[in-house]
Amino acid sequence: EVKAKTAFVCTECGADSPKWAGQCDACGAWNSLTEITLESKAAVTASRRGSWAGKMDAPKITALKDVTHTEASRVSTGISEFDRVLGGGLVDGAVVLIGGDPGIGKSTLLLQSMALMAPRMPGLYVTGEESLGQIAGRAARLGVPLDGLFALSETCVERILAQAIQEKPRFIIADSIQTLWTETLAAAPGSVGQVRESAARLVRYAKETGTSVFLVGHVTKEGGIAGPRVLEHMVDAVLYFEGDSGSRFRLLRAFKNRFGAVNELGVFAMGDKGLKEVPNPSAIFLSHTSTRQPGSCVLVTREGTRPLLVEVQALVDASPLSNPRRVAVGLEGNRLAMLLAVLHRHGGVFTSDQDVFVNVVGGIRVQETAADLPVLLSVLSSLRNTPLPEKTLAFGEVGLSGEIRPVPNGEERLKEAATHGFKRAIVPRANAPRTSPAGMEVIAVDRLADAIEALG
Ligand code: TYD
Ligand code: MG
Repeated sequence: EVKAKTAFVCTECGADSPKWAGQCDACGAWNSLTEITLESKAAVTASRRGSWAGKMDAPKITALKDVTHTEASRVSTGISEFDRVLGGGLVDGAVVLIGGDPGIGKSTLLLQSMALMAPRMPGLYVTGEESLGQIAGRAARLGVPLDGLFALSETCVERILAQAIQEKPRFIIADSIQTLWTETLAAAPGSVGQVRESAARLVRYAKETGTSVFLVGHVTKEGGIAGPRVLEHMVDAVLYFEGDSGSRFRLLRAFKNRFGAVNELGVFAMGDKGLKEVPNPSAIFLSHTSTRQPGSCVLVTREGTRPLLVEVQALVDASPLSNPRRVAVGLEGNRLAMLLAVLHRHGGVFTSDQDVFVNVVGGIRVQETAADLPVLLSVLSSLRNTPLPEKTLAFGEVGLSGEIRPVPNGEERLKEAATHGFKRAIVPRANAPRTSPAGMEVIAVDRLADAIEALG
């Protein structure tokens, strides 16, 4: 009797560890290690016992110059915003993980593209979460042609693959990976071990047959259910759906992509006929109220390859707490704390007795440092209860010594803002173009104090 081998995996970053620990070595998260049962290694170990190589045949080494290689062939998903995030279409044999909160639109997007691809490449929709009736109902609601759409209601990976070997779909949608399980493990479906091993089997199948696979994974904030994070290193691409449940706009972001650029964004609007592409999204996240509000600053962020105008809002209010709150939504929390320290030290603005809340409007996440200056200007505007001058925007990184550093593609950002009617831009000096876009005053600043002064 061989005892089942176990290991530990971090549900935050997916790192392995042979031993349990309170904190993950790799990412520093606390209480994130979960025990998983590994596939029985008894047979493998037995064959290896005795010598380094055991009884195995020596594998063959190949000179790279002798390997034939072709540019990965890509197929359009029929949705160009989806293709854009994938790096130009779906690659044969690629495994793509699509993560996001429940209800954000993962199943809808995949069903829509499956219908659009059906005439060119047959797919198989494997559902472990919804009934076939629900899938058919969604397809009917989306108004897509039902011809050539095939679905399988099954959660056992071995049985799914048995079907796939017979039917040979060109791609498989596994919705969701959390519902799948493999016969080789005793652990419960949904456990980290099952999710990981099920995904590993699908990945192996994809690589051996050239079948593309979409894995749907729900993101869960609680550690209980295996989040898609443990899968990130196994798959070729990881796309995350973002968006505010109150807004109809949805962003699909490439977080990892072996076949394309990361941080590329696809923009969709959820309507009664499913997800519609937003091919020209630059201003969709701006509120269209004409009254200026204190605590608001517009910035041009450049996520992926397109400029995007977004609004940062701040609320600064006297705190009853001895340790006032700093809350950032859509931005990194630590960065906010750092920026507030710079604001104090180099801008002379004191917020240590204030609660500071900062939010990026529309449920979008801004990951680049270009948001630094707009964050501080919105904080200042809220603190002073004075709106920014009309049609003003800002971008720029703020350094620890109070300097305003340039960000990439400054000129393109300014042009985009000008086409949307912005009249004034507060930007890092190195980003100021020799000639400003028509109708726009560009205020070039070197230091935070200059930017504060520019507000008047
Ligand atoms: P869904 O694709 O089921 O989300 P996920 O698979 O990520 O859990 O999308 C569910 C939401 O989208 C649901 O709240 C209903 C809404 N929806 C529409 O607004 N229009 C539509 O045409 C469809 C199919 C769904
Ligand atoms: Mg779903």
